[in-house]
Order: sequence, then C-alpha cells, then structure tokens
Amino acid sequence: MDYKTIMCDVLVVGAGGAGCRAAIEASKHNLDVIMLSKELLGKAHTAMAEGGYNVSLGNVDPDDNPETHFKDTIVGGNYLNNQKLAEILVNDAPQRIFDLEDMGAVFDRTPEGKIAQRPFGKQSWRRTAYASDRTGSEIMVTLVEGVRKSSVRVFDEVFSTKLLVTDGKISGVCAVDLKYGDYLVFRAKSVVMATGGAGRIFSVTSNAQLDVGDGYGMAYEAGCEMIDMEMVQFHPTGMVKPESARGRLVTEAVRGEGGILLNNKGERFMNRYYPQVMELAGRDQVARSIMTEVKEGRGSPDGGVYLSIAHLPRSIIEFRLESMIEQFEDAGVDIREEPMQVSPTAHHFMGGIKIDEDSSTNIQGLYAAGECTGGVHGGNRLGGNALADTQVFGAKSGESAAEYAKSTTHLGVNRDEINEEFTRLELMLKRKEGVSPADARHELTELMWSKVQIFRKEDEMQYAVKELRRIQKEVVPMIKVDVPVKRFNPGWHQAIEFAHMVTTARMVAEAAVIRKGSRGAHFRVDADPKDKGYYNIVIHKGKEGEMELRKEDLVITKITPP
Ligand code: FUM
Repeated sequence: MDYKTIMCDVLVVGAGGAGCRAAIEASKHNLDVIMLSKELLGKAHTAMAEGGYNVSLGNVDPDDNPETHFKDTIVGGNYLNNQKLAEILVNDAPQRIFDLEDMGAVFDRTPEGKIAQRPFGKQSWRRTAYASDRTGSEIMVTLVEGVRKSSVRVFDEVFSTKLLVTDGKISGVCAVDLKYGDYLVFRAKSVVMATGGAGRIFSVTSNAQLDVGDGYGMAYEAGCEMIDMEMVQFHPTGMVKPESARGRLVTEAVRGEGGILLNNKGERFMNRYYPQVMELAGRDQVARSIMTEVKEGRGSPDGGVYLSIAHLPRSIIEFRLESMIEQFEDAGVDIREEPMQVSPTAHHFMGGIKIDEDSSTNIQGLYAAGECTGGVHGGNRLGGNALADTQVFGAKSGESAAEYAKSTTHLGVNRDEINEEFTRLELMLKRKEGVSPADARHELTELMWSKVQIFRKEDEMQYAVKELRRIQKEVVPMIKVDVPVKRFNPGWHQAIEFAHMVTTARMVAEAAVIRKGSRGAHFRVDADPKDKGYYNIVIHKGKEGEMELRKEDLVITKITPP
C-alpha cells in the first residue's frame, strides 16, 4: 500500500478542548508537535458544551474551596472516581481557568468584576464559571487561537484509525487524509489521545456527529486498559422536537438559573423524587425521574416532560441563556413565554482509557486526556466538571508527553501491520457485496438506545451483548461503501468508524452485564441488592483477542464509600 510517513516528537490525536490544551503545553518544550483533527480545527464537540466550567474560586459563595469541590465530585460520582485523579481535577482547575483568561477567554463577571459562578446539580456552592450558555465555544475559540500562535503543526480533516505499538511502547498512528483519501503514518516519540466520547453509539445523543468512539476502539485494540465503560451519562434534558434536533443539549444552566420541570398535570414532579434539591439533583437522578414520569403516563405528547423558565425575569433569560432562546426559536418555541419539551439524551462517557496521575496509560509513551479517559468522574459526572477536566488533564498530558519525548528516540514501526491496516480500509471500497455503513450504524445505535439505556435489565443487556458479538463477527468485515471514491467520501468515513463504534458499544454492554447492582448512571431495574457496586471494571484485549473484564478495587485517598 502507498502511504506517506510524517515524523514528529509529540503527536496529539484529537483537537477538542483537551487535545488543543495538550498540544499547546507540549509545544512549550521546543519540540515538534503535531495535532490531528478529524474535522476542521475549532469544530470539535467541546464547542457544543454550554453550561460551564467547575472551579472553586469562591467568587459568589466565598466558603467554596477545592476540598468541597472534591467531596461533591466523589459523592456525585457515587464513590467510583479514582480519587487521586479527582484531587488533581479540583486542585488544578483554578490555574487552568486563569490560563484560559491569559489566552483571551472572556467569562461572565460578577458586579465586582470577578468570574461569575452559577449553581449546577449536586454541588454545594455556586461553582460553575460560564460565558452565557456557550462556554465551550468561548473556550474553543480561545484554544484555537492559542494553537495558531504556537508552533503546533495542525493536520485537519485527518482521521486516525490505528495506534502503532512497538515492543509495548507507542510508535505512531495510521491515519487517512479525508480530503484526498491519502494514507498517512505519523511516527512519534509520544502520543496523546484526546479523542472525546462516543455518544453517537446511541440513536439519541447530544454529541457531535463525529463522537463515535474512535479513541476507545483504537486504544482497546492497541492493548490499553479501559475502565468503567458501562458508565454512560444520560443528560436529563435534550430536545424532543423537531425530530432533526432530537437529543440536542438543553443546558443544565436552564435549571441552574431557576428552570422547573413539570409533567402533563402541571406538577413540579421533582418534589416527588428529590424534594431537597429538586431540579438540581444528580444528572442520573433527574434523568430517571423524567423517564418515570413518561413511563407512568405523565409525559408530554411527544414523549418528554416540560421545562419552564417563563417565570424568570426576561433579562436573566436573555443574558444568560441566549443560545437556548435561539435553539428553541428554530423549533418555534419562545422559551421566555412557553415551556420547552425535554427528555434524556446520551451525553458523556465517564469510562474510558485508564490513566495515572500524570495522564499516562499502560502503554509506554501513550498518554490520554479528556472524555476519552475514565476514572476522574466515577459513576456520574457533575455538570461543569468536563470542561475543567479537558483543561486540567489536557495540560498534564501535554507536559508528560513532552517530557517523555525528550527522554527517548523514535521506534521502528511494523510495515506489515501498516499494510494490513490500510488494506482493511481499502477493502471497504472494493467489496462487491456487503452491508451499507448507514444501515449497520442504524441497527447498532437503535440496539444501544433500546437495550443499554437509563433503566437496564439483565435479559435486554444480554441480548445486546449477543447481537453486538454477532455484528462484530459478521457485519464489521462486510461493510461496503456505496460510492468507491477516496476523496472526501462521508460513506467511507462512516464505514471506517463503524468497527470502533461496535468495539465501544461492546465494552459498554459487556461491562454493564457484569455489574449486577445499581450504581451511578448504571441503574438496573433487576439490581442485585447484595452488589453495592463499590469497584471499577477494567477491560482489555486478551492474548487470544477476546475481550477480558475484571473487577478492581477503588482508588481511595480521602473519602471511603458508605
Ligand atoms: O448542561 C450542560 O450545560 C452541560 C454541561 C456539562 O456536561 O458539563
């Protein structure tokens, strides 16, 4: 196979909040840093994050501090977090938001001119810093500017498909240039994975089109240990209508600013489930409450519930929730006057690549940051902790990868392995008979949405596992692209993504099956009360190529589960 080789010191795979931050940090070390972006730079999913960045500045509630932020994160995470990672998150979050300000980010202010902070679910104080309801966009614009001012070489519209490992150490990445269809091999001394999540393995999701789990698939295939993949967060409030916008995020800031949830009888139903905290209960709790209302016949005609802010002063809505106004105007709803219809949507993966405090993985020279990692958020992430995570572990992984690159040389790569990878991709274009990627994807996403969802059940999950194993064995090798061209061909891109989607979905479902109790986002209607769930589940690819799962003790530094 024909391919081009490109050398660098540090390679960052992914160009969202974590990837950009990692690249900027690594470039400070006078090294040759390349960042690969699957789409145009600046369009990563981070830009779609709305509500905010958690940081215990105490600007609004002076009693807040990192200790309380830590406690909220662990309790919110149902005690499954790696507490060493959570400590780093809360301790470094303040400096990392100041870095963003230094780079030019503008957050909303208090009347005294400090960074303003709003309430978010399950947090003891108003802690979430924000830029209206487009915080992620503000952060991404700033980071892109930072990348452009740095020496980082950006390759956009380049899709990484495989990690190359030589003698147990990272040596590079196979990729496709989506614009021209060329095959590329990037050889690097160290690699940072910052590939985001996989909401798109579910048919209803708040995630960007490209969040299909490439990073999880690549890392698993390369031999990475993966942790708590069953922990998928369903954000309680996604759009219900129109169908084309189904699942689109309705920020938690709506509830943070005082929005209330109502059923079809006009009852503020959270009073029935979590009367102390009402709409600001944990995301898993609010999502289940909404689904219960719908299942019991108290939902809206389109299968959701109502979220109303019509009682709030117009100035608050117009200043702090401007994107929500626009988002619903497009759907013909004026949120200043009428309630929104909302229902849960697949939003965030708490699980992912297992990392250590320095963002390293079990493969030497391979680091990871952001949503593609697991452990920081335990069984349920607090809204606002993800943006902080991208910056804290983005910076950490960039620093660690740079230090490692300085200490080593390029390793050789295996040409046969590279040829095999590109032949696999090429075959999708050449196959005469097979399954279309769109059909295969539809089957997969509907299966995950219907069987491995908010309320989980043994027989449904077992069914999903059986089907996913079949899909992996029978459908993945038969994927066939309708139009066999390599230059910007979305059909081919979808085909390439599909194998990673199936691997990711399998990890979610297989881990969900072995977790017999309910904990955090993993809620079973048939939970075994004896299984309190105080463990992590680690997955890796066994020597014979089979998926191996094991339970591991929690990493506890300060807070012991009850
Ligand atoms: O609701 C939101 O604005 C989402 C924030 C988050 O997931 O952190």
